[in-house]
Amino acid sequence: MKLNNQTFDPVQALVAAQKAAQAGAKVLEQYFGRLKQVSEKHLAGLVSEADLASEDAIKGELQSLYPAQFLGEESSHGTVEVWPSEGNWWIVDPLDGTTNYIHRFPIYCISIGLMWQGELALGLVHVPALHTTYHATKGGGAYRNGEKISVSERSSIRDSLLATGFFRDQPEALKEQIEIFSKLVFEARGIRRAGAAAYDLCLVAEGVFDAFWEKNLKPWDTAAGTVLVREAGGVVKDYSGADYNITAPCILASNQNIYSTIYRSISDCRTC
Ligand code: IPD
Ligand code: CA
Ligand code: CA
Repeated sequence: MKLNNQTFDPVQALVAAQKAAQAGAKVLEQYFGRLKQVSEKHLAGLVSEADLASEDAIKGELQSLYPAQFLGEESSHGTVEVWPSEGNWWIVDPLDGTTNYIHRFPIYCISIGLMWQGELALGLVHVPALHTTYHATKGGGAYRNGEKISVSERSSIRDSLLATGFFRDQPEALKEQIEIFSKLVFEARGIRRAGAAAYDLCLVAEGVFDAFWEKNLKPWDTAAGTVLVREAGGVVKDYSGADYNITAPCILASNQNIYSTIYRSISDCRTC
C-alpha cells in the first residue's frame, strides 16, 4: 500500500470517506434482517457477518482513494496494545450499533474518522436507515446532509435531553454508569440510550442531545463524532476534564453551556 505523505487534503479525504461509507452501507442494507452468523467477542459485544463485510468494503475504498494506516474495529479489536497517537490513520467502526442491527432496531451507523499527523482531522458518520450523513473536517465546520449544524445552547439541566450508553459485560463500569444515570435522571428532561455511540455524538453536534457521556468506548466509536462535536462548537472532554483524545477511557461531549453541570455530576461518581 502506498501511504499518503502529502499535506492533508480535506476534499479528497472527504470524498474517500463518503465513498467508503456508501460501500459499507450497501453491505449493511443487504444483510439487515438476514443475518446467519452472530457471535460474541470476548468482552467486546457482538459481531456478525455484516460487521466483517462492511469493514472489508470500507477498507478497500479508503485504501485505494486516500491511503493511510487502518484501524478498524473488526480487524483490530483485541490485538492493539497502544492506540495510535501519531501518523495518519483511518479509524473505522464498520457497524456501530451492532446489537440494534441484530435485533432490527434501525439505529445503527458507520463511523469513519481520520487522524492526520496525530490530530483528528475528519469525521464522517452515515446512518443508513435515516438516509443521513454527518461530516466535519478540522476548521471547516460540521454538516448534516450538507447543511451546517451546531450544538444546542441550553444551559438548564431541567430542560435538557441527555444521552449515554453502557455495556453489560463490564460490571464495574456498568455500576458507575448506572450511578451517574440515577443521579441525572432526576434532574434532566430525559436521558436516551440509542445504542450507537457515534450517532449519539452526531446528535450532540446537531443540538438534539445537549450532552452525551460513556465509559470504555474505543477509538472507532468516538474518532469521527469527536471531530463533529468540536466543529459544531461543542466540548469533548474525558472524565477528568482534560480535552478528549481517542486513547482516553471515558468521554463527555456537550454544548458549552451545560458542560460544567454535567461534569460535576459525573465527577461525583467517577473512578476514571
Ligand atoms: C457499541 C455502541 C453502543 C455503546 C457500546 C459500543 P458496537 O458499539 O456504540 O452504543 O454503548 O459501548 O461498544 O459494538 O455496536 O460497534
Ligand atoms: Ca461501536
Ligand atoms: Ca462496531
